[in-house]
Amino acid sequence: MVKATDITLGAISRDLKKSPAGALVIGVGKGADGPVLLDNPLSAKGAESVAASLEILGVTGAPDQAHRLPGLPDTGSDILVLAGIGKVEAGEGLEPEALRRAAGSAIRQLAGIPSVTVALPTATLADVAAVAEGAVLGAYAYTEHRTNKDGLKDPVKKVTIFTPLADSKEIQPVLERALLLGRAVNTTRTLVNQPPSHLYPDSFAEAAKDLAKGLPVKVTVWDEKRLEKEGFGGILGVGKGSIRQPRLVKVEYSPAKATKKIALVGKGITFDTGGISIKPALNMGDMKSDMAGAAVVLNTVLALAGLGLPIKATAWLCIAENMPSGAAQRPADVLTVYGGKTVEVLNTDAEGRLVMADGLVAASLEHPDAIIDVATLTGAQLIALGNRTAGVMGSEHVTGALKAAADRAGELVWPMPLPEELRPSLDSQVADIANIGERHGGMMTAAVFLREFVGSDGDGRQIPWAHIDIAGPSFNNGSPYGYTPKQGTGCTVRTLVAYAEDLVSGVS
Ligand code: BES
Ligand code: MN
Ligand code: ZN
Repeated sequence: MVKATDITLGAISRDLKKSPAGALVIGVGKGADGPVLLDNPLSAKGAESVAASLEILGVTGAPDQAHRLPGLPDTGSDILVLAGIGKVEAGEGLEPEALRRAAGSAIRQLAGIPSVTVALPTATLADVAAVAEGAVLGAYAYTEHRTNKDGLKDPVKKVTIFTPLADSKEIQPVLERALLLGRAVNTTRTLVNQPPSHLYPDSFAEAAKDLAKGLPVKVTVWDEKRLEKEGFGGILGVGKGSIRQPRLVKVEYSPAKATKKIALVGKGITFDTGGISIKPALNMGDMKSDMAGAAVVLNTVLALAGLGLPIKATAWLCIAENMPSGAAQRPADVLTVYGGKTVEVLNTDAEGRLVMADGLVAASLEHPDAIIDVATLTGAQLIALGNRTAGVMGSEHVTGALKAAADRAGELVWPMPLPEELRPSLDSQVADIANIGERHGGMMTAAVFLREFVGSDGDGRQIPWAHIDIAGPSFNNGSPYGYTPKQGTGCTVRTLVAYAEDLVSGVS
């Protein structure tokens, strides 16, 4: 069972003392001539003395700083926390993402303190939303499998945002959206963090059903018999080596007022050993995260349903465990993807594109306005764009809209091309296509493979489609930063929700 984060959000605009908290967080920016204390609710005298001591305290305003001081009288808090917000220019406002990260980092580092007031400068409701989202994302911990709780600090449980906008009519919906969105991201993280002993195809499908309870969505699960009967050869081929049978899960949100319809396809490899083309032992454990794409699309559709957004959205979770065994598929095997195209499997470690091919064909048959697929697809993504930036490829209109949505949501994605010359590198001697091709630019080669399985609309035009490769950014094997913890990050849920909101409002 995947539990949602337990946190409450509120907002006040005055009377700090009436809302006592363990900590009061205020912001410090990194100005051209040293640290700058940002707008805050301290008394003039209090603010003056804190500002005067910043330098000697070693407070620079750098991101992720969270310097603790004794609480000042009249603030109602036991301690005062100086949170770094990064570079600030005189006369310029703060980026929402800087606020999101500063709030998230402070809340993350204040674990162990039940109640925190955050008083970062918020000029607009978008700023308040960023602080609120950051707070929910920072209040995350994954401790399900620890029996020894020594040294573990509980995440912050209650966050009060100090903002002049607290009395606005719109504050409540802004906080509710932040909570819902933050929970969707945190649930994605928890699914990714689950060990493969506990999260395998059937238990993932069950978790999807559990998480959907109480929401207006329909969940349909294909077990191995139905997958066989209907010809989902990609998912079955990858799943063959495991005693845990594969699954396809369809999660449909279909509100009456919808005018647009999107399909989301996610890679759900609950563990990727590479299969017979086995991976090296070093860091193989990170491959528990190879189902991040499926967790993202699941939680995106559930979030859209929770928000009641008037858009039809269907998630397709393509779930299998990639294991080597006497029953596993071999390099040179040929399988038949749903719909009839054949693939020569030259490398069993290029398994994501095989399960995704089935999902893309199935999604296409329903003629959505756009298909977006999300997958931890290639190591080449990390070579091209690094640990934190997702690659987005496909129809220009969709990739552009996703980039704009990501910018607004505060997530890093970058568009990459799909050069035509890569397609012949996937030619097979025996089947319609091979599952590996040109190694250089391998992220794009994989996307060119996926494009072959995107179907057409009623008029014979290819359905607008984009592929997001989250191999790097979905899993943080470095130190925590901002609102991002170690391991599962939940990346691109916020981007996809923002994309759906843009579609509904006619922006894209
Ligand atoms: N799941 C991996 C990709 C991956 C690598 C995700 C590192 C996260 C971190 C994928 O299934 C894979 O193994 N891809 C191969 C493809 C290759 C054989 C063409 C790769 O990238 O090496
Ligand atoms: Mn693989
Ligand atoms: Zn994989």
